[in-house]
Amino acid sequence: MHLKSYVTAALYGLPALTSAAPSAASYSQPATPSPSTSGSDDHFREYTIKAENITAKVIPYGARLTSLLVPDRDGHDQDVVVGYDDPKYYLHDSETNRTFFGATVGRYANRIKNGTFSIDGHESHIPENENGGLDTLHGGFIGYDMRNWTVTAHSDSSVTFTLLDQGFQNFPGDVISHATFSVSTEKSAENPKGLPQLTTKLVSLALTEKTPIMLANHIYWNLNAFQNDNMLKDTTMQLPLSQRFIAADSIEIPTGDILDVDTAYEGALDFTQPKLIGKDIEKTTDLCGGGCTGYDTCWLIDRPAAYAAPNSVVPSVRLASDKTGISLDVATNQAALQVYTCNGQNGTIATKESQAKRNKATNGDSGATHVNKYGCVVIETEDWIDGINNPQWGRDDYQIFGPDDGPVVNFATYQFGTF
Ligand SMILES: *[C@@H]1O[C@H](CO)[C@@H](O)[C@H](O)[C@H]1NC(C)=O
Ligand SMILES: *[C@@H]1O[C@H](CO)[C@@H](O)[C@H](O)[C@H]1NC(C)=O
Ligand SMILES: *[C@@H]1O[C@H](CO)[C@@H](O)[C@H](O)[C@H]1NC(C)=O
Ligand SMILES: *[C@@H]1O[C@H](CO)[C@@H](O)[C@H](O)[C@H]1NC(C)=O
Ligand SMILES: *[C@@H]1O[C@H](CO)[C@@H](O)[C@H](O)[C@H]1NC(C)=O
Repeated sequence: MHLKSYVTAALYGLPALTSAAPSAASYSQPATPSPSTSGSDDHFREYTIKAENITAKVIPYGARLTSLLVPDRDGHDQDVVVGYDDPKYYLHDSETNRTFFGATVGRYANRIKNGTFSIDGHESHIPENENGGLDTLHGGFIGYDMRNWTVTAHSDSSVTFTLLDQGFQNFPGDVISHATFSVSTEKSAENPKGLPQLTTKLVSLALTEKTPIMLANHIYWNLNAFQNDNMLKDTTMQLPLSQRFIAADSIEIPTGDILDVDTAYEGALDFTQPKLIGKDIEKTTDLCGGGCTGYDTCWLIDRPAAYAAPNSVVPSVRLASDKTGISLDVATNQAALQVYTCNGQNGTIATKESQAKRNKATNGDSGATHVNKYGCVVIETEDWIDGINNPQWGRDDYQIFGPDDGPVVNFATYQFGTF
């Protein structure tokens, strides 16, 4: 259904990029921006894309969504993603907290145990940037979230960023990726009411060697638009097809076990029906790492027969805030979801001034001044995390690709409604 012009899209922009890419040799230190392509201001240039009742802003630095306006139940626009008003602040963020706000993460999202994996007997070692060297998170010290992507297509409602990764961070071989963000309110079979919709497409090709590829969008959502301090009591989540999740150890590395949501943690991970995010959160101690309470978990998407084709786009997440009346429905072609409830936020990062102004104008109250613990939720549509180190799961066909393989596609739609 949605997989129409992926091959053409994946090839677009390839010749123009080969001269502009940093070399493999520079992986251990920050690459200098290529003087021939663009000045540093361009890396933070905001591209605004619009359709009726939906306006998004994206920047090349990290192929990143920085703002997304949709109407609340009173018809007032609200920014439902977390980030910064000043695009240059994302560079500072990378150098300090590295939150990955709104970014595209890659070449391999989530954690790689010991920074190590083997393909056909050849071991690769990616710099471990987390837990004192025990694992690699989101592609290493310089992930795709810190790369300056090139704008290769742009219309009023769509932007495509492209990145040629030539063995960066020691991953094997070259990979070209396109990250497209588009917005629309057009009626279609998948969007019969013509709701405001964001579509994200991450399309990658392995060019020279077999390599793991697992890009993901890393958007932090807050459907109460920071009108509450956190999301525990106003926001419900439903993961209608997620009856199983990947168990992880005290540093959030998969143990290899797959657990059932109805038995583990007294049912705290059972979101098959809509449930307030805060309802069972207290039962999750140790779920998001040793001593940590909250969700930071890879739920599997158990596809019913109607969606048996592995690349069909299946409804996977519903979020809804009683405070603003905004709902979000996410559908994806991916087989799993990492959901993180901002357990690590602690109120040190300020919320956007622009959102505070909007809240003040409509409610007389600026709302939360800082991003608090449980004040947001990240949804990463992706494959089973660290599948490359768990061959017993049989995920290699979905995670390891070589020059003989077709495009790797992570497709998702985000539809906004009100209630
Ligand atoms: C991206 O561009 C910024 C600004 O020019 C620069 O500071 C940063 O080092 C670049 N990132 C990489 C990975 O080259
Ligand atoms: C846009 O939003 C307004 C206010 O919520 C609503 O009245 C209108 O019907 C929406 N338009 C579309 C095409 O959904
Ligand atoms: C971790 O990776 C290093 C380097 O590849 C390797 O020497 C070591 O044996 C690995 N440790 C474990 C526990 O797998
Ligand atoms: C809050 O989080 C930041 C970033 O993770 C960290 O540097 C800081 O120490 C934390 N502050 C407190 C009080 O926990
Ligand atoms: C990020 O981390 C630094 C250092 O831990 C902290 O001082 C700062 O308040 C945090 N937030 C921002 C937005 O930099």
